[in-house]
Amino acid sequence: MENSYIFNELGERREDYFRAIAPPIIQTSNFAFDSVDDLRKAFEDEYSTFLYSRGLNPTTDILRKKLAALDEAEDCLVFNSGASAIFAAVLANVSSGDHIVSVNKPYTWAQKMFDNVLPRFNVTTTYIEGRTLIELEEAIKPNTKVIYLESPNSWDFSLQDLSAVAGLAKEKNIITICDNSYCTPLYQKPIKLGIDLVLQSATKYIGGHSDVIGGVLCGKQKMMKNIFDSELLNMGNGISPFNAWLLLRGLRTLPVRLERISKTALEVVKFLKNQEKVEEVIFPYDRDFSQYELAQKQMKGAGGLFTVVLKVSSRSQIVQFCESLKHFLLAVSWGGHESLVLPKCASLDPEEFDAHNREHRMIRFYCGLEDADYLIADIEQAFKKMEA
Ligand SMILES: Cc1ncc(COP(=O)(O)O)c(C=O)c1O
Repeated sequence: MENSYIFNELGERREDYFRAIAPPIIQTSNFAFDSVDDLRKAFEDEYSTFLYSRGLNPTTDILRKKLAALDEAEDCLVFNSGASAIFAAVLANVSSGDHIVSVNKPYTWAQKMFDNVLPRFNVTTTYIEGRTLIELEEAIKPNTKVIYLESPNSWDFSLQDLSAVAGLAKEKNIITICDNSYCTPLYQKPIKLGIDLVLQSATKYIGGHSDVIGGVLCGKQKMMKNIFDSELLNMGNGISPFNAWLLLRGLRTLPVRLERISKTALEVVKFLKNQEKVEEVIFPYDRDFSQYELAQKQMKGAGGLFTVVLKVSSRSQIVQFCESLKHFLLAVSWGGHESLVLPKCASLDPEEFDAHNREHRMIRFYCGLEDADYLIADIEQAFKKMEA
């Protein structure tokens, strides 16, 4: 019930635009004022006014309201990419001399920020597995300002107990940030579990059609205003009105797409688990997943992303399998209408490939909106083409 209101009415002001069902794309850079005093007020508080579309814009505002409600957050900012949302959230909460604790292998560009950019400003990062609270407690230093989480992560789907981490962080006055791209707020609500800032790549499920890049950041209003006044306006990394409109359009069908994708993924996982050439399927909603209970406790669903570890002795077998697939495209992003595969060996020098290394034999699958049978038949024929 609540969600239907979010996807349809919330934030819409149809009486202002001819009762059009789809809102207009307010494609303007600038807004005009009636008086000098009104203009002065806008300069004083740009977060309450439409002044210049690098800041607020009416089309983007509809999206912000809906996304904040979905996350059950006070407020939301929408960025021109998920990477921008990550950068703004972290940058807003650290200064020179500070320390961050991050989960191992966060999203690539989060890790590059921690490893390459922040050290130039004397901000250091300690990585932890994130599966136990003791490990986290041991990594925290007196100058730790941020705990960075990604639950589940998007390759091996490691989880963190979000409410336990949030409780510990609050005691120690540390800001928690969680990348929720895997679940979206439909399947996990980190803010409700006590996390301070939650972000997602809107490029994935929110957009849903592989035609727009965007990022969402939600949290308390005071924090979001600070990020708006500083990081967003300074970097000029807010979403454009047209891309906000595409995200709004994608958002309307998010629940039905996720429901369908989750059902298909479960069927494809079940099929893959019984294949001779499959060593393991890693999927948080599979009973054999090492953190299955935690996944059941804090998530409502698992979407379409999972990883398969193949039983192979050479890189060429993986290449042959992936290149034989007709309906799973070889591509990096996920969350769209189309099914995808991404073999780990694509990011390795061929010489580096080591069949004894389980990670090297991983293929990440994403199930889109196709029928499960259609996808299963595709995998079957690709396995047949894979040499022994
Ligand atoms: C888990 C995760 N977080 C964040 C991002 C960054 O999002 P974007 O590509 O929209 O910048 C991605 C993108 O691949 C991702 O997979």
